[in-house]
Amino acid sequence: MAEDRLAAGITGLGIHLPARVLTNLDLERMVDTSDAWILERTGIKERRIAAPEESTSDLATGAAREALNAAGLSPENVELIIVATATPDMLFPATACLVQDRLGAGRAAAFDLEAGCSGFVYGLAVGAQFITSGCFRNILVIGAETLSKVTNWQDRSTCVLLGDGAGAAVLQPVGPPRGILSVYLRADGSGGELLKVPAGGARLPASTETVRAGLHYLTMNGREIFKFAVRSMEEAAVEALRRAGINQREVDCFITHQANIRIIDALAKRLGFSPDKVIVNVDRYGNTSAASIPIALYEALVSGKIKPGESLVLLVAFGAGLTWGAVLLRY
Ligand SMILES: CC(C)(COP(=O)(O)OP(=O)(O)OC[C@H]1O[C@@H](n2cnc3c(N)ncnc32)[C@H](O)[C@@H]1OP(=O)(O)O)[C@@H](O)C(=O)NCCC(=O)NCCS
Repeated sequence: MAEDRLAAGITGLGIHLPARVLTNLDLERMVDTSDAWILERTGIKERRIAAPEESTSDLATGAAREALNAAGLSPENVELIIVATATPDMLFPATACLVQDRLGAGRAAAFDLEAGCSGFVYGLAVGAQFITSGCFRNILVIGAETLSKVTNWQDRSTCVLLGDGAGAAVLQPVGPPRGILSVYLRADGSGGELLKVPAGGARLPASTETVRAGLHYLTMNGREIFKFAVRSMEEAAVEALRRAGINQREVDCFITHQANIRIIDALAKRLGFSPDKVIVNVDRYGNTSAASIPIALYEALVSGKIKPGESLVLLVAFGAGLTWGAVLLRY
């Protein structure tokens, strides 16, 4: 395994969360729901919501600055910025270009990557290819979202689930035993209808009618997505482990996309992970889409659950597209 392992590793992490906390009690005053229902069905207690003037690039830039500091890398030396997001500031230019400008990363190439909530896992996998090919040595991979901007705050079936935030990672070449050991990425466009924002793109451009019909809001088939989540993340976890020749028991830290505690628990049980290895923060942030995994990764590192140079970490995600995937790495 040593000879064919990928030598791209995470050398710095950062996060940025909006200051405003929206609790379940706040939501009780907005829609016909209850703290007890939300907690029992999702495990979410509160989430962060961006201010009206705050957007995805603001959160992404804050997370990126912290990650660069942690890696001891100056913005001028960044060669590529990938922003994984389903809620870009605009259709174009890319949010990654806005972040590049704000950081002063004048030498960096920049593009957005849209893989729904799997975006950060996709981004790590893509960024790693530029490092193992020798193309770049200093890459920022950011997962950033302001889902609150595409949320229908009158739809109780979706608005209680979502939150805003950003997490960023610096990817650089690393020596053994560190680095990405395997990746597994999949998509199934036939399930695209299950989770989407219908209007605002080229198919249904924004118009008075689309806005009146609420077609610029996120829609979701929660039950189908729930089943898909458990099935797809189990497959991704098993495949990433198999490709690296690693046994599940060797994994120190298991980080899934944070959408619902019942999805996380069901998956951990199927795969045989004990609760002490499973990172959970969905209670505090809700589903932050592409930002959820880097935020959880950051918190696992800061809390000492991940030990640099030692811990084997399995990241697993699913999301709109449909997309799913996993990255196994020695932090
Ligand atoms: C959305 C989700 C929490 C709903 O939980 P569930 O146990 O499947 O609940 P159901 O959809 O069966 O709804 C049960 C009832 O609660 C109601 N309900 C839905 N949202 C509610 C809310 N916020 N408060 C109170 N009741 C609610 C429904 O109307 C339904 O009522 P009915 O039985 O009278 O029709 C769950 O399906 C889920 O988490 N799905 C995955 C979503 C996801 O991960 N999305 C992100 C993908 S990246």
